[in-house]
Amino acid sequence: MLRKKINLKVSITFIIVALFFLNSDAQTWNVPADLKAKNSNLKFDDAASKDGEAIYTKNCVSCHGNPGKGNNLVTMNPIPPDLSGAKTQGLTDGELFYILTSGRALMPSFKQILPEVDRWKAIAYIRSFNKSYVQVLSKFDDSKSKLVKVNITFNDKTNMLRVDVKANEKSGVVLLKDAEILLFVNRYFGKLQLDKTLRTNNEGIAIFEFPKDLPGDKNGNVDIVAKVTDQVYGEIESLTKLKIGVPTDKPSLTEQRSIWNVLTKAPIWLIITYLSCVLFVTACLLYVLYGLYKIKNSK
Ligand code: HEC
Repeated sequence: MLRKKINLKVSITFIIVALFFLNSDAQTWNVPADLKAKNSNLKFDDAASKDGEAIYTKNCVSCHGNPGKGNNLVTMNPIPPDLSGAKTQGLTDGELFYILTSGRALMPSFKQILPEVDRWKAIAYIRSFNKSYVQVLSKFDDSKSKLVKVNITFNDKTNMLRVDVKANEKSGVVLLKDAEILLFVNRYFGKLQLDKTLRTNNEGIAIFEFPKDLPGDKNGNVDIVAKVTDQVYGEIESLTKLKIGVPTDKPSLTEQRSIWNVLTKAPIWLIITYLSCVLFVTACLLYVLYGLYKIKNSK
């Protein structure tokens, strides 16, 4: 009997220990070699790390806790590690950037949430907890992205949007091959992604499907934002206005006269009624004052 109990205890302990090891031995991040070697253009100085601290506090602290303080969310599985730890600090800047950009399961992708420079600033902050860290700056030329031209044209027969990406180098035009492209439509609140994320072909072209009944403004204009990411030319964002939406002429609260808006345009009848009331009350007051004046002088 006693032996059975001990056996049970031993096996339960064994299972718990095994689970613990399984859990703590989280998967490694398989980052492609070229991205692993990626470095930042931004110098990780005090200013960058201070900006990074604000970004970290807003976006990361809820799961990862404050670096070095051990207040990360240990109830989550896998546990979001304390980022000042040796394991995280042993990753390259490129790996950290990749993790922030793509995410994995509970670790969110910050690609759409933080622009590239903010992702680097968050990394600058994480690195500030590592005394032995020495930054290797990227030799990548930031100004190269200015050479890129994004051209979007619409084919109304096929309902397709064609995106052409090229760079006007001094030596001639370079077509951007295998560049990642995301298309968005500007809405009142945020952006709506069109189709999926695509890559340009060998001619620097990607073709997107455009939804048939997308509402535009009253002339049918739609603002299309293309976000291009290229290995050599970096991140480029361009805005194109195209007359391809369904014209929508809804009276907007901000443009029409209405009772309930807080802008300058009240309806005319309301203004007239209001002014008549004010004039009437003022006239009554003046009449009373006149009456008082007459009483005073009637002695
Ligand atoms: C919703 C919770 C959550 C938020 C918010 C979050 N993370 Fe994570 N993060 C995780 C989890 C969970 C993991 C472990 C994922 C895994 O191993 O599969 C992780 C892993 C990481 C890793 C890899 C660490 C290592 O040593 O393997 C880094 C780096 C990282 N996060 C950075 C950040 C940064 C920077 C932010 C804010 C911009 C952030 N995370 C926001 C949950 C979160």
